[in-house]
Amino acid sequence: MNIYTAEQLQGAPRADEVRAEIEFRGVTKRFPAKGKAEPTVAVNGLDFSIRRGEIVSIIGPSGCGKSTLLNMGSGLYMPSEGEVYVGGERVNGPVKRVAFMLQKDLLMPWRSIRRNIELGLEIEGRPAAERRDIAERMLLKCHLEGFGDHYPFQLSGGMRQRAALARTLATDPQVLFLDEPFSALDAQTKMILQQDLAQMLHEQRKTALFITHDLIEAIALSDRILVMSARPGTIIEEIEVNLPLRENPLERRKLPEIGPLAGRLMTLLKVGEDSELH
Ligand SMILES: Nc1ncnc2c1ncn2[C@@H]1O[C@H](COP(=O)(O)OP(=O)(O)OP(=O)(O)O)[C@@H](O)[C@H]1O
Ligand SMILES: [Mg+2]
Repeated sequence: MNIYTAEQLQGAPRADEVRAEIEFRGVTKRFPAKGKAEPTVAVNGLDFSIRRGEIVSIIGPSGCGKSTLLNMGSGLYMPSEGEVYVGGERVNGPVKRVAFMLQKDLLMPWRSIRRNIELGLEIEGRPAAERRDIAERMLLKCHLEGFGDHYPFQLSGGMRQRAALARTLATDPQVLFLDEPFSALDAQTKMILQQDLAQMLHEQRKTALFITHDLIEAIALSDRILVMSARPGTIIEEIEVNLPLRENPLERRKLPEIGPLAGRLMTLLKVGEDSELH
């Protein structure tokens, strides 16, 4: 095992940025279950906090409540018990400093890529010239120069997801909630988008909570990984990634520690146990 210096681990938040940007305190979420007296307990007693500038991934079996957790972070769902704080403020509804990105790009098919990117800025009431400037910058940053006047159907899946990322970042949110944003993409496109995302998050020192089923993606992108149990989802383990190159996941993927770390996650998730392969 390599021992990395603090300098090599520069992706991690600095000591002066230890303030919690996202905090879940004793959060439980129940949903009424159709035709049953007992509600579905989606997540149970979630307690964790994420520092400003930190990127944290959440992994866990399907249906364990990962999306529910994210929806509570962004104020779309309210917890049944407990509290969620973003930027030190209790979440009671949609949070302004937060942006959301999903597996489906959710671009509006009738708007050009440029106007899709401008959407959040329009909602904020920003003047047209400013919106255009920001959209132009985001097109460049997300490697979509020349495609501003195209419509979503004219773009590949990877390009649409780039456009969704551009739209997510256009309003300059401090906190990003990403729900399997790359899971529908092919392996190569996914790695390139991960690289772009990591660089942008690093440059702008954003805080991000990232859901994925891809264990290597979680290791390549994050400072820390929260592992959830099957439903009702609880956090069963918290793993510090402690590797350099957070801003360069293409290179981080090549480090020798990746394999053993992925192995540890597979054990925690019981991948391969009770499966048809045995
Ligand atoms: N709006 C809702 N109404 C009722 N039940 C819901 C609702 N949203 C989620 N659930 C239930 O909560 C549980 C957790 O769902 P959730 O979508 O959060 O899981 P997940 O971990 O994101 O799964 P996946 O990995 O498949 O995306 C499931 O049993 C689901 O049916
Ligand atoms: Mg989900």
